Amino acid sequence: MTFKLTDEQLMIQTMVREFSRRVVAITAAQRDITKEYPADNLKQMGELGLLGMMVPFEYNGSDSDTIGYVLALSEVAYSCAATAVIMSVHNSVVCESILKFANDEQKERYLKPLAAGKYIGAFALTEPEAGSDPVSQITTAQKDGNFYVINGTKRFITTGKNSGLVIVTAKTDHAKKHKGISAFLVEHDTPGLKVGNIEEKMGLRASDTTDLHFEECRVPAENMLGKEGEGFKIAMTALDGGRIGIAAQSVGVAQAALDEAVKYAKSRDQFGHKISKFQGLRWIIADMATQIEAARQLTLSAAAMKDRGEKFTTQASMAKLFASEMVNKITAQALQMHGGYGFTKDYPVERFYRDARVFTIYEGTSEIQRVVISNNILKDKRRP
Ligand code: CAA
Repeated sequence: MTFKLTDEQLMIQTMVREFSRRVVAITAAQRDITKEYPADNLKQMGELGLLGMMVPFEYNGSDSDTIGYVLALSEVAYSCAATAVIMSVHNSVVCESILKFANDEQKERYLKPLAAGKYIGAFALTEPEAGSDPVSQITTAQKDGNFYVINGTKRFITTGKNSGLVIVTAKTDHAKKHKGISAFLVEHDTPGLKVGNIEEKMGLRASDTTDLHFEECRVPAENMLGKEGEGFKIAMTALDGGRIGIAAQSVGVAQAALDEAVKYAKSRDQFGHKISKFQGLRWIIADMATQIEAARQLTLSAAAMKDRGEKFTTQASMAKLFASEMVNKITAQALQMHGGYGFTKDYPVERFYRDARVFTIYEGTSEIQRVVISNNILKDKRRP
């Protein structure tokens, strides 16, 4: 399918491109060194409506479709991948889960401030011993009167330190495996919720990734998201949308890497010519651009399916798998084209290379995407 973007989608893309290259890009290299959380960027993004993109107007959102969101996220990622992952988890995993599974009171209380950018959301599913296999999580939530008491440790939580609200999954019934997992809306300042180790990462350094410890953390029973036992379904549904977000982020970073490589190739002289004159490099540029376009189309296609209300799990995993593997190749090629300079901090390609490395890992590894895709193909009754 070829996409003809609507006027509104084009407007979003143009607006976010202008904003992120003027504002977000400027401090990206510095924040990569200092690990400073991009609070200023996020404040402005909230004012522009980028933190409740797919949330309806009535809950302070921008009421955009997923295609508009994907275009915006790619533009932010082009300028700063660390800011983009915060935006992605907040919009696709947190806001969408609340929009889909929360009751009216919870939406009023949490979705409105989240969508307005008053605070950022986090999603706590992963545990030290439960990454690719979240059903094996051991965090518990025990009913005690009008409260649930949460105990356990969550790991690799994006915005674990700087979020205002965390969606936490925990076992409410050990005997029931995935149907014994429930989800809770936990305010960050709830007593018993403690931020633990903050990871020292090779990339996305301005986005905090932390442990969250729950020690006798009492959460009002009314803060259960969805029904008891629905936590795994909520997480899987959230990750379907989240994986489109990581694909969009991959496209943005890959485009930035290609643009830098082209700029360098057009300015660098060797053997008496600009290196862009050499066919060896021209073919690499052609392949890079083709791979990026393929990933972009897969990502938009998954987004369009979601917007049409179709089941898009397989396509989201395909987009995530292809785009995240693609950006790892593209950033490596862009770095190679810079020669020795690519290995220095004088050029942004080394940051792109480091930032992209986690894209094949978080929100489901490439191996897990292949599990999802092959499972869905094998159980599709329309196939021979
Ligand atoms: N949507 C809705 N429901 C779904 C679903 C989906 N996409 N996928 C599965 N389910 C449901 C199934 O229908 C089934 O429910 P029923 O029993 O009612 O039919 C139930 O979930 C169990 O399904 P499976 O048997 O397929 O589950 P599984 O245990 O075999 O796991 C998996 C499937 C795909 C491997 C899954 O565990 C998975 O996605 N793992 C990876 C987890 C992951 O991506 N973690 C990243 C965390 S977030 C992060 O990275 C950090 C960040 O913030 C950036």
